[in-house]
Amino acid sequence: MLATGAPIIDRGLSFATIEPMRSYALAFDVPPALVPRGMYLSAGSPSRSVRDVPLTGGGSRLVVGGNGHDVGRTSSERALVDDLRAWTAEHFPGATETHAWSAQDYRSYDSMPLIGPLPRGGGRIQVATGFDKWGMASGAMAARSIAGRILGAEPSWQQALSRRSIRPSGAARAVLLSAEVAVAATTSAVGAAVRRAPTSPPPGAGAVGRRGLLPTGVSATETGTCAAHAICTHLGGVLRWNDNERSWDCPLHGSRFSAEGEVIEGPATRNLRRAADD
Ligand SMILES: Cc1cc2nc3c(=O)[nH]c(=O)nc-3n(C[C@H](O)[C@H](O)[C@H](O)COP(=O)(O)OP(=O)(O)OC[C@H]3O[C@@H](n4cnc5c(N)ncnc54)[C@H](O)[C@@H]3O)c2cc1C
Ligand code: FES
Repeated sequence: MLATGAPIIDRGLSFATIEPMRSYALAFDVPPALVPRGMYLSAGSPSRSVRDVPLTGGGSRLVVGGNGHDVGRTSSERALVDDLRAWTAEHFPGATETHAWSAQDYRSYDSMPLIGPLPRGGGRIQVATGFDKWGMASGAMAARSIAGRILGAEPSWQQALSRRSIRPSGAARAVLLSAEVAVAATTSAVGAAVRRAPTSPPPGAGAVGRRGLLPTGVSATETGTCAAHAICTHLGGVLRWNDNERSWDCPLHGSRFSAEGEVIEGPATRNLRRAADD
């Protein structure tokens, strides 16, 4: 059962049909009169979602979410979170931040979950992905569907999902996904080629640049400066520094690695090579 977001076994090439997205949410204490009752989602752009969270001891907290983007394809993740903070300060004066989250989720080419056997897996390997930020609901649906399939009683609604045909809009979206990956691959590779890798970035910072011929990521962690080959161990995308999470993120299919180069998530399964290991 592969439920790792992007499947870590590539046989079905599912990573090519899903789009990795990062999104953000912040919680605030706000004056009671300002807490909205209910859940609201902006109709326009940039996206904002606002809801109240009743607290056990009485009162409510405000949660603000938004500013989602493709993994590794923004110049500064931290700026997007700061933008959410600024928006909240403008619309909810006096709000005091209590919690902050970021999350990674995947959207399929037609926005519907991909649930079922992995191609060329002999029917023994099942996949569930593409929940498009609705995985608490769709994850339960996927579990019922896969359990039903294994026990020989697949729910009737799953057949409609499995046998859906690719509509022109879905096919166009799949082509666009590939084009966007190609553009991201070129942009990050060129960006790394024209800069030299920094030798000692400021604390908490990181950047990718050339060291010799190879794109190298250098970051400053609590334990000192750390250098790793900034080449994704999935299919070789050139990584970018995520200044909010302090991680190396792949703009192609969304793999992420810690500052020290360990796999965090995504289709990649191997750690980055430390540059000092050469
Ligand atoms: C603030 C917030 C509010 C939300 N509200 C709702 C809501 O109201 N309703 C709703 O339906 N959904 C909601 N969601 C979305 C929902 O939580 C997610 O869609 C869901 O958790 C995704 O579940 P998943 O099991 O597919 O992935 P995850 O929960 O992300 O689990 C994937 C697991 O795979 C592991 N993994 C990934 N890559 C690798 C790898 N290479 N090697 C080893 N392990 C790996 C990860 O560590 C993780 O444990 C919300 C999400 C957030 C952040
Ligand atoms: S996640 Fe596929 S190349 Fe990085």
